[in-house]
Amino acid sequence: MLQDPTPEAPLPFGRYQLIRRIGAGGMGEVFLAREGGPAPRAVVVKKVLPNLVANRAFVGRFLDEAKVVVRLSHHNIARVYAMGDVDGEYFLSMEYVQGKTVSRMTKRLRDRKVDMPLGIALLIGERVCQGLQYAHDAKDENGNPLHLVHRDLSPANVCISYRGDIKIIDFGAAQSTLKEEQTAPRVVIGNLTYMAPEQAKKQIVDGRADIYSCGVMLWELLSWHALPQKGDPIERWRKAANPVWEAPSATMPSIPRDVDDVILKALCKEPKDRYATATEFGEALKKLRTRFAPDVRDADVGELLARVFAKEKTGEDAVLHEAVYGQTINLPASEKTRRVQIVPPTALAFEHTAVLASADFKDDQDITDPGRDDPPPVAEDGTPTPAKDPRFTQPLLQGRSRRTGFGVTFAEAEEPVLEHSLIQEIEASEDFIEEASDPEADTRANYQEGKWKLVVLLSGIFLFATGLGFLAVWLALR
Ligand SMILES: Nc1ncnc2c1ncn2[C@@H]1O[C@H](COP(=O)(O)OP(=O)(O)O)[C@@H](O)[C@H]1O
Ligand SMILES: [Mg+2]
Repeated sequence: MLQDPTPEAPLPFGRYQLIRRIGAGGMGEVFLAREGGPAPRAVVVKKVLPNLVANRAFVGRFLDEAKVVVRLSHHNIARVYAMGDVDGEYFLSMEYVQGKTVSRMTKRLRDRKVDMPLGIALLIGERVCQGLQYAHDAKDENGNPLHLVHRDLSPANVCISYRGDIKIIDFGAAQSTLKEEQTAPRVVIGNLTYMAPEQAKKQIVDGRADIYSCGVMLWELLSWHALPQKGDPIERWRKAANPVWEAPSATMPSIPRDVDDVILKALCKEPKDRYATATEFGEALKKLRTRFAPDVRDADVGELLARVFAKEKTGEDAVLHEAVYGQTINLPASEKTRRVQIVPPTALAFEHTAVLASADFKDDQDITDPGRDDPPPVAEDGTPTPAKDPRFTQPLLQGRSRRTGFGVTFAEAEEPVLEHSLIQEIEASEDFIEEASDPEADTRANYQEGKWKLVVLLSGIFLFATGLGFLAVWLALR
């Protein structure tokens, strides 16, 4: 059984004090932590699962990739401060974005029957594009381009702070020239719902795959239609590899046609038909925002978030001040009472509260993770939600296959079989597409064939007419 840290009993980890587990994903656990020193600060510590550390290829990639992400410094990317290991436990430490992911935000808005305003969706897209362009342009220390691609951009990997900062997180699946990705067994990693077709088909991808994923995220925000995150993996993979998109206005008629056009361009199946760069896409989104929602600012995104997560924010503020900065917040008596109710020792109103809850724990309806009771529970990245998942009261991830970052899939019993059948399926479907459904090629072939028939026919007529002419002349002269 894992011993979770609490603000009252933080767990020391190197120079950090782990305060709360706030997430658990493919690569490992994510903690809110305090980094000591003269100016203590809140950070996020992302630990690598011990099972993965045993895999030398994984550790190699983790270190390679960490070298890249530590270099990234942009307002729209959560800053990675350090990487290292504490007694053989590898970790990354990064900026703590106090807020929620886009997926949590949209879920909460839907639950509260609040629509996401057009301008807010466009602004989120714009800022994500700015972060993406920076990452795509990143260079190594010698100035050589790294060709960094996030490859797992999704609403679960974009954080919004209550101040309105919009930041991409989780470069765990990122690909760059630093990695020996091309020679590694090419596994499909990332969330299939947001995945570019070329990535689903395991082709080498570039930044345009991230543009596509950002397009899917915006399609979902604009049409206000939650895309399925689960289902038959082969079916999901097939859809990812051969996507067909309706315009967002087909679902949400108030969406202007010009907005449709921009989103559909980002969602083109062929990378060459999409925006060539994230900047181009971001500029197109900016133009739309200037035209349709000129008054929307970053702070409005934060205000909307803080409004729908007001109770959570109060609890989080208190923990941050007390556990990180050592200040006690004097909450009004009503808030104190509420804190006792809503922040029991087993759960706190941070992201993934359910991770911390015991099986029989029932908390305030409003404060609890709204996704928790959805049948069947699924986390933001499509993996089963911890609350109902026995793995999370035991050492993590036992006996199940998991997606991991850094190009390594967890080798568990059923995974290779599934992987193999999926590969065959996709490759077979590609052949089918190429062989059977190239209508243009068919038309061209028919045209060529028809042209030859016409030439032969005309030549025949010409020869026949010439023959007739000779015959007539011969008869006349006789
Ligand atoms: N920098 C951060 N600030 C705040 N919350 C974070 C941060 N990084 C991760 N989280 C939280 O932890 C969850 C998992 O983190 P992520 O980096 O996406 O890992 P993975 O998807 O590999 O599990 C996120 O959905 C988010 O809720
Ligand atoms: Mg993630």
